[in-house]
Amino acid sequence: MSTATLPVRAPLPEVELVKKLPSSVDALLFPTFAGEDGPEFPACPALDKDATSTILAQLKAVGATGKASEITRIPGTDTPVVAVGLGSAEDLDDETLRRAAGTAARALRGVKNIAAAFGPVPLAALVEGLLLGAYEFPGLRGTAAEEKPQPIEHIAILGDPKAQKEELLAAQITVESVYLARDLVNTPSSHLYPETYADIIRAEAKKAGVDVEVLDEKALEKQKFGGILAVGKGSARPPRLVKLSWNPRKARTKVAFVGKGITFDTGGISIKPSAHMENMISDMGGSAAVVATVLGAARLHLDVSITGYVALAENMPDGNATRPGDVITHYGGITSEVINTDAEGRLVLADAIARASEDKPDYLIETATLTGAQLVALGIRTSGVMGTEDFRDRLAEVGRSVGEPAWAMPLLEEHNKTILSPVADIRNIDNQRNGGMLYAGTYLSKFVGEGISWAHVDIAGPSFNEGSAEGYLPMRATGVPVRTFLAVLKELAEQR
Ligand code: BES
Ligand code: MN
Ligand code: ZN
Repeated sequence: MSTATLPVRAPLPEVELVKKLPSSVDALLFPTFAGEDGPEFPACPALDKDATSTILAQLKAVGATGKASEITRIPGTDTPVVAVGLGSAEDLDDETLRRAAGTAARALRGVKNIAAAFGPVPLAALVEGLLLGAYEFPGLRGTAAEEKPQPIEHIAILGDPKAQKEELLAAQITVESVYLARDLVNTPSSHLYPETYADIIRAEAKKAGVDVEVLDEKALEKQKFGGILAVGKGSARPPRLVKLSWNPRKARTKVAFVGKGITFDTGGISIKPSAHMENMISDMGGSAAVVATVLGAARLHLDVSITGYVALAENMPDGNATRPGDVITHYGGITSEVINTDAEGRLVLADAIARASEDKPDYLIETATLTGAQLVALGIRTSGVMGTEDFRDRLAEVGRSVGEPAWAMPLLEEHNKTILSPVADIRNIDNQRNGGMLYAGTYLSKFVGEGISWAHVDIAGPSFNEGSAEGYLPMRATGVPVRTFLAVLKELAEQR
């Protein structure tokens, strides 16, 4: 039976721009800065002189310094005050603000109504930080549901309701998109598998006014998607390929997105060790980012033509599973020798990239939780970006500019030799482990159409936080790289 819904999460906190701070709130949020002689509390139109000096005295009394992301709770004059450190006022950048706001939102969990006065800081970064930090996945709880602190409901921010309306709305849509990616990734494979996932995408796309086409296993057979079928073969739950399209009339540029949607990766016959295998519910993080990006771009009315292809399959060992040594034929005709069934992501992506290339996009952006080697090379927070040089570098830079660290990585000449197979056109893994992230990039490059600027973004580490929450990053699904993709699209929409 298909249980095609996401666990019900509280909606994102409502944000309202106000000219005057409301008096009846549960907490007041103010910034502090680290000055030469201790904390600085900027004069704020919402507070009179007495209140300002009382708060500053209280901050000093409890040893606040104003350093970045320092959270200090003090009694204030009549409403409890939460002071958020932003570090040195001269060095304040968007990411410092986003992280501090996210830390504050996590500290304020369980507080319903908040008012915030931050002065002339960038509103989008403030709102993104607060809302991204307020995210909580409800899980699938039976009896323990009520014991959890409830999320923030309402945030009134001192600002200009008219002049900043658009900026606020864009930040809210961006955050909603990140929330969607996080929800999809956090939903376990018992509930989210190719069939239910496709149903959820269809429902969400409808709401955003995006066209959807779902290819089921029969259509995949008919159209010869050999890579997706080979990976899905070992599972009782058949694979899907979902295509999303957003075609605004004024668009001048065509962008294709492709995402890896392995709803669970056991490794298949080349089975993984059992320790931490549960985290492989997150092996569809690339597809979640693609879905969230296409829907977000439509909600933002970005003037770019966008297609999104997500290849959904469950990688399981079984009597019918693909074996090491099998040769498969991808969409478009390239054959692969499957040396290791745990290198399954590239097999489904190959088909989807070949299909996306047929539409002749100007840019093709693909993302996947593709290799453990990404974590070895770049750690848990930094995505590896490969592809055509200019676009690769540009995308990595945009990632860094929105606080989603990304780094350009090369494709290696030697892999063009070691990729050759004695029985097929190419093989899915190298005979040695060196440069594993880059080998995967070379493998994918064989399926990208001529003349397309492309980028492959390996998010194995950054899309799923196995540690504790930090700044605006929650535990588990992070929603990376949705904000990078929306920022790239915004640039492409505006470029002539
Ligand atoms: N889904 C994994 C990659 C992964 C590892 C994602 C850790 C997130 C955290 C991928 O399908 C995989 O198993 N890759 C193999 C490839 C190898 C067999 C060449 C890997 O990286 O070990
Ligand atoms: Mn794998
Ligand atoms: Zn995988």
